[in-house]
Amino acid sequence: MTSSNTHSKTLVLLALLGLVAGACAAMHRIPVRRSEKFVRTRQSIKAEREHVWRKYNPVQSSISVSSNTSNTVNSSTTASNYSVESLENVLNFQYFGSISIGTPPQTFLVLFDTGSANLWIPSVNCYSLDCYNHQQYFSGDSTTYQANGTVFSITYGSGSVSGILSTDVVTVAGLQIAGQTFGEATTETGTSMGDATFDGIFGMAYASLAVDGVQPPFYNLWNQSLVDAPVFSFYLETNGTQAASYGGELILGGSDASLYVGNLVYAPVSSQAYWQFQMDGVTLGGTTLCTNCQAVADTGTSLLIAPYDIYLTILSLISQELSCTAISSLPTLTITISGVPFQIPPSAYVVQVDSACTLGIEYIQGTDFWILGDIFIGRYYTEFDLGNNRLGFASVNSASALAAPIVHLAALCGLWKLLNLL
Ligand SMILES: *[C@@H]1O[C@H](CO)[C@@H](O)[C@H](O)[C@H]1NC(C)=O
Ligand SMILES: *[C@@H]1O[C@H](CO)[C@@H](O)[C@H](O)[C@H]1NC(C)=O
Ligand SMILES: *[C@@H]1O[C@H](CO)[C@@H](O)[C@H](O)[C@H]1NC(C)=O
Ligand SMILES: *[C@@H]1O[C@H](CO)[C@@H](O)[C@H](O)[C@H]1NC(C)=O
Ligand SMILES: *[C@@H]1O[C@H](CO)[C@@H](O)[C@H](O)[C@H]1NC(C)=O
Ligand SMILES: *[C@@H]1O[C@H](CO)[C@@H](O)[C@H](O)[C@H]1NC(C)=O
Repeated sequence: MTSSNTHSKTLVLLALLGLVAGACAAMHRIPVRRSEKFVRTRQSIKAEREHVWRKYNPVQSSISVSSNTSNTVNSSTTASNYSVESLENVLNFQYFGSISIGTPPQTFLVLFDTGSANLWIPSVNCYSLDCYNHQQYFSGDSTTYQANGTVFSITYGSGSVSGILSTDVVTVAGLQIAGQTFGEATTETGTSMGDATFDGIFGMAYASLAVDGVQPPFYNLWNQSLVDAPVFSFYLETNGTQAASYGGELILGGSDASLYVGNLVYAPVSSQAYWQFQMDGVTLGGTTLCTNCQAVADTGTSLLIAPYDIYLTILSLISQELSCTAISSLPTLTITISGVPFQIPPSAYVVQVDSACTLGIEYIQGTDFWILGDIFIGRYYTEFDLGNNRLGFASVNSASALAAPIVHLAALCGLWKLLNLL
């Protein structure tokens, strides 16, 4: 080996380290997981409809979902009469990851939810059944705990979560947020959270949506200069190519261009509460479903949800229950955003349930927007840009659906940080 050869190798190594340093400085990754317990059923699809309805209409009471396939909605009834197991099942599908709270750290699994804005976890003082199977925060064990004591209550799913606010260090993707205020739930009633795989919710919507005016954690990540840009993005794994529990990546501080194809297509946020924006239009085959219609990008919803009148139009074209052999003859759903068509083929919007098939599109009443859940976000890498108040979308790069390079990069970042410490 000649010395010039060694020299060039050193240069290459230095260049590589430079690249790694750049990548590490910009982005912080959290692997997100999905429960292996999830099985989609017709009941779970109906249960999710009700869950979404309550999430987006928190002040109203509830809807009754009849036990057969009729779509009767009665918003004045209060009795909850849908399968709780189905909702637990829905909750198991959601994408979640690990954070820690306090010093020394207490670890929690949280649902990363762009459709709500509070962080809450169960308290050690919660004696509700739904708290039992979960990690519970004990402020007495944390040297960085600061009491707040303000009461909070959040309508969640079929029930509600309530308790007090507390403040402590919250660590996410290795980033330590000082003085993060969160909900310490002392009561969880009718939430169906008992068997959910995650312990609490990590809200990532706009602060205007936050109960009690609490600053959401991502705002503090930015405010405390822990991320380089006020941007986060989701790459959700929808294909069963990985171990079933691997669900993708939440990236804090930017977007990873290796996880999508081409450039992100941006749409301005139209209302800063949910991550809401205006679509140019939605078509189903040759039928225009709406033009200049509103949508919300929500990682905490798994299906596609349409306003009720549009849903009725969809049902006039495709029945809710259908034969799986019919899938290939169904029209493509096309959502046009900033002039660019984003296609959802029938294989993505139809859900196979055992040997039968059912539409993965549901409706919501009381709101005039669509909700683009994981069926959409799983196909289209989604960037949430809080600094520029815009959303960016691009086709996911299926070729990068292998976790291995990501894990390697994470390891290299760790090494880089170590080298910096030395
Ligand atoms: C439920 O289905 C049965 C028959 O399948 C029908 O007779 C009944 O009216 C339906 N109930 C509702 C509330 O739609
Ligand atoms: C809704 O429920 C209320 C109270 O149970 C009842 O009076 C009303 O008739 C129902 N409406 C419909 C459309 O079923
Ligand atoms: C739920 O529906 C079942 C069957 O339709 C009925 O027997 C039961 O009383 C209902 N429960 C509630 C709380 O409405
Ligand atoms: C509790 O937290 C809320 C929300 O951050 C804040 O407005 C309030 O001042 C805090 N109260 C105390 C006593 O720290
Ligand atoms: C963080 O928030 C505080 C209080 O709202 C504010 O004074 C401070 O300037 C903010 N810091 C950054 C870096 O945005
Ligand atoms: C899922 O896997 C199939 C077959 O391996 C592939 O054709 C498709 O592009 C993948 N979809 C995504 C979103 O990765």
